Amino acid sequence: MAAITIVVFSLKGGSGKTVTALSLYSAFVQKGVSKVALLDMDKQQSLLNLNTNFPELNLKVYEASKAREAIKDNTLLIVDTPPYYDANTIEILKASNIIVLTCKPYIVDALRLKDAIQVIQQNKLESKTRILITQLMTGSKYGNDVKGIISGYGIEVLNTSLNHRISYAKSVAKNIYKLGDKKAVTEVENLSNEIYTIITLPK
Ligand SMILES: Nc1ncnc2c1ncn2[C@@H]1O[C@H](COP(=O)(O)OP(=O)(O)OP(=O)(O)O)[C@@H](O)[C@H]1O
Ligand SMILES: [Mg+2]
Repeated sequence: MAAITIVVFSLKGGSGKTVTALSLYSAFVQKGVSKVALLDMDKQQSLLNLNTNFPELNLKVYEASKAREAIKDNTLLIVDTPPYYDANTIEILKASNIIVLTCKPYIVDALRLKDAIQVIQQNKLESKTRILITQLMTGSKYGNDVKGIISGYGIEVLNTSLNHRISYAKSVAKNIYKLGDKKAVTEVENLSNEIYTIITLPK
């Protein structure tokens, strides 16, 4: 059976793709899902580099050239993408079960999201795409101006957002569950549960 595939996507650098992919990976491993893996589509190989620099992360991560193997040999695959797209990205977006489109809660970021939305629309992938707000200032809600821009895209927004927390920045070196930040863990679990519900819903 081919792996259920979650692709974390956005054409904006720094929107939180890699941190989101890592968080989802940690949450699904923690849940006890067997054969969870990461696929690193980034030519800078950020996840592969992290695994080399911080071996205690203990990530099961495949490089882009091993995509087919990663899909064939796992149950759940979480894909980190670069801030650009090419034929490989389009192929994995099409093959995915869900696309998580990361966006910071600011007007400029919401406007720039349009580039990624166009890729989604050109490939008719709207129904399996969800927007995830990342790096939301703790205790704040994102403004109606940002909400208005995002709702204009006609793509569903996930109920869970990821707040701006130091633990997420640290999670590239140490598993988020080992950082002692209960609020971050709760958020990551809410996100993985929400996504799990979407990908396991009968079509
Ligand atoms: N929720 C968060 N709270 C605090 N810092 C965060 C959060 N999410 C990401 N960061 C930090 O913001 C920066 C960008 O995050 P990340 O590397 O995940 O973005 P990206 O979309 O993968 O970027 P790129 O397109 O360059 O690969 C990193 O320094 C990361 O540690
Ligand atoms: Mg990245």
